[in-house]
Amino acid sequence: MARKPFIAGNWKMNLTHLEGIKLVQETAYKLTKAETDKVDVAVIPAFTALRSIQTLIDGDRLPLSLGAQDVAIEDSGAFTGAVSAEMLAALDVRWVLAGHSERREIFGDTDADVNAKVKQILKYGMNPILCVGETLDQREAGETDTVLSHQVTKGLAGISHDDMARVVIAYEPVWAIGTGKTATPEDANTGCATIRATIAQLFNEDVGDAIIIQYGGSVKPGNVAELMAQPDIDGALVGGASLSADDFAALVAAS
Ligand code: 13P
Repeated sequence: MARKPFIAGNWKMNLTHLEGIKLVQETAYKLTKAETDKVDVAVIPAFTALRSIQTLIDGDRLPLSLGAQDVAIEDSGAFTGAVSAEMLAALDVRWVLAGHSERREIFGDTDADVNAKVKQILKYGMNPILCVGETLDQREAGETDTVLSHQVTKGLAGISHDDMARVVIAYEPVWAIGTGKTATPEDANTGCATIRATIAQLFNEDVGDAIIIQYGGSVKPGNVAELMAQPDIDGALVGGASLSADDFAALVAAS
């Protein structure tokens, strides 16, 4: 089954909306039509930059789509500081991260929270990018497969077969994020293969074959091609390198 490569740039808590506008304009200028025909590209800015970048993408018909880094579990109400799925959908946000390791580790998002976010994202017509990954301790204890299948199973609990067509998974080993330590292409593929097998088991072989699985963790222009050459890796969720138009465009070109 042919799966279209998908490269997404998670800017994390970086860039004002003005800096974000500049980065998206420069990146879009560097991308060729042949590249964006072949690869889906998304940017995932902070909430404060979503509106400006949506306007830019729509107004200039840029070959990129828009994502958000998090979403509230509730529909609306007295949740000071939170941003709802309805608010994101109204900004043409297409992708929303759920369960990024920084949300799990720093902000205490549980598997149940992550599952509720996935459901909320789907409910409002957007596409979740469910992030999973093991810590270094878990890897060294030989628990990688168990952790990945647990996080995938809990994150996707109660999701229908039909809705799975809108779900993307990002395999991000926690020890490889922002550390410069990339998993070897083979190890990254093994993690993605475990995730695919778990999904085939939870749903069926067709759902497992069709799902887009990204790898994330110190992906750079210099290592993306060998990662993308692996059979179970369909894309990349890029942190640091997505903050440079040169690097992000080079990374798309090499995918
Ligand atoms: P880095 O590419 O900076 O390692 O970040 C990966 C990541 O967490 C993307 O979501």
